[in-house]
Amino acid sequence: MTYSTLLFEPRDGLALITVNRPDKLNALNDTVITELGAVTDRVTEDPAVRGIILTGSGSKAFVAGADITELATATTISAQALSRKGSQIFRQLERCPKPILAAVNGFALGGGCELAMACHMRLASDNARFGQPEVKLGITPGYGGTVRFPRLVGRGRALELLLTGAMIDAQEAYRIGLVNRVVPAEQLIPECEKLLRAILDNGPLAVAGCIRMVDEQEDLGLDEALTLESRRFGELAGTADFREGTAAFIAKRKAAFTGH
Ligand code: COA
Repeated sequence: MTYSTLLFEPRDGLALITVNRPDKLNALNDTVITELGAVTDRVTEDPAVRGIILTGSGSKAFVAGADITELATATTISAQALSRKGSQIFRQLERCPKPILAAVNGFALGGGCELAMACHMRLASDNARFGQPEVKLGITPGYGGTVRFPRLVGRGRALELLLTGAMIDAQEAYRIGLVNRVVPAEQLIPECEKLLRAILDNGPLAVAGCIRMVDEQEDLGLDEALTLESRRFGELAGTADFREGTAAFIAKRKAAFTGH
């Protein structure tokens, strides 16, 4: 499969996906959004892909937001459709059972910050910049910014950034919990690979289970969430991987998980 706005590079069990419109700072036009949907389906279904790194082309931007030239002509009806489509695709990405790391290598603004927040974890290069500048354009975020931002960093911090449209640097993003860590730019992809490979040493059903359980508890009350956790815990206890993981620990050897 080929893409006109994405690069897809398999890397020994991982997929490196790059939004590739460097002359427009990788802004999200309709083609990028459509292709992000297609590539999400692909990595979800392809057993050869066990983890994903999502980044932007060039050294300046991860994604500098929705494509403003495309957005400028939107009407109420078309803007709602555009937001719905992007939101559903970002949600698909968030629900992918394989770990997805955003490698934020520069500006992550508007839809770019929202795309990073829909990934499971975020690593930032030291030159990364984050923000939701939609208010400066007279609009609100449309790809989950008002929903995921407060959940990640708390309501007050999210509102400050949403209402001012201000940009923060990588260190501040780390301080408020928006990114997992900050690394020198040249170390960004190697660090993402290292983190993913450490995750992939673990039982794949358990990894997928943690992603699913952290996601599904968002909509539940405490007691309901704990009951569901017990159910999932029991389901995993019935797998061959659980037998293997515990047997390997007892035998003091490395577990050989099969995903069953
Ligand atoms: N949509 C469409 N095009 C964009 C874009 C976006 N979100 N962000 C950047 N670009 C384009 C610029 O128009 C420019 O194109 P041109 O060379 O054809 O004129 C090119 O990318 C380079 O951007 P430029 O603005 O010249 O770079 P800069 O270093 O001076 O500034 C930013 C970088 C990120 C501060 C600035 O591009 C910006 O503010 N972008 C918009 C961010 C935004 O509001 N995003 C939310 C959208 S909802």
